[in-house]
Amino acid sequence: MTDADGLCSLRWDPVRQVVEVIDQTLLPHELLWRQLDSLSDCCRAISTMQVRGAPLIGITAAFGLACALRDDGTDASMDAACAALLNTRPTAVNLRWALDQVTARVRALPPVRRYRAALDTALALRRADIASCARIGEHGLRLLQRLELARPVNIMTHCNAGWLATVAWGTALAPVYKARAAGVAVHVWVSETRPRNQGMNLTAWELQRAGVPCTVVVDNSCGQLLQRGLVDCVLVGSDRVAANGDVCNKIGTYLKALAARANQVPFYVALPISTIDWQCPAGEQIPIENRDAAEVLSIAGRDAGGATVEVGLAAPGSRALNPAFDVTPAHLVSALITEHGIFSADPTGLAPLRAHQVFSSRPM
Ligand code: MRU
Repeated sequence: MTDADGLCSLRWDPVRQVVEVIDQTLLPHELLWRQLDSLSDCCRAISTMQVRGAPLIGITAAFGLACALRDDGTDASMDAACAALLNTRPTAVNLRWALDQVTARVRALPPVRRYRAALDTALALRRADIASCARIGEHGLRLLQRLELARPVNIMTHCNAGWLATVAWGTALAPVYKARAAGVAVHVWVSETRPRNQGMNLTAWELQRAGVPCTVVVDNSCGQLLQRGLVDCVLVGSDRVAANGDVCNKIGTYLKALAARANQVPFYVALPISTIDWQCPAGEQIPIENRDAAEVLSIAGRDAGGATVEVGLAAPGSRALNPAFDVTPAHLVSALITEHGIFSADPTGLAPLRAHQVFSSRPM
């Protein structure tokens, strides 16, 4: 499940000096690597969701900024590139965090030296992301082991927080992969995650490739599964955690947290600390992306001949609202699983992580 296994979502080709990503809009039907060779390639990949998932968006943006500085190393170019990248998707704070890492490293350098320094920083951020996610997996595994079940642990997840959403391992799925490697039996309930179906299209694909038993369920069945005692814990990722511990994640996460609390099932959130926004006091200040209504009103798939077809679902003229994320209040979160250990989701619990942020803001 590491870079070395070939299971990564973004790779750097040192010979051709290009970054390549898996085009996630084609999964699970087709595994295609796309080359990103310019700032506009990177912006497009993020905004069209060829790459998605908070940590991967950040790493892609770092490479996008490096591309811009290769073409023009001036302050004006750097500021315009940051603005273009920040404009792609508003919710995942990892994007801003990654750009801050690169600009902090290169701003004091003369323009001709900025590209090399930016590229080195992007590569270091990529390596650091892999290391952080592996550690999240180890800490999360301890929580699963504490359940001490004599049968497979039933984990419910939402959206995709696996290696497709980071560089390798993932956040919420990292403990699952570590459990598999440690011989701890797990089964994952994969909620489909309408409207873009990241659960069904990406998470189920990842888990099947790794040989992890999983079952896809419609989003609306999750409350019933929790009520029937078929879930031992809910494990999700996050796009931004506010300083008070409120968790923003894919739309539908909040309903799972409510149902988990009502049924005394632990609700865990796995994240690298680059996902914590210390400047954001509480969840209501997190910008929530509103996406195209067409994602709700129609659906794309492959026909029997393998051709992509898009079909309408709703009555002609129907209106739809499509917020992509919601906020789960901190009091519904049982624990935050980070690369630095397990913390409670409140200002006191988060406090020790501020010191780590200063350290880890320097790429490893
Ligand atoms: O809209 P997406 O697919 O980018 O949303 C992704 C999520 O909500 C993930 O759960 C989140 O980024 C955590 S990923 C490690």
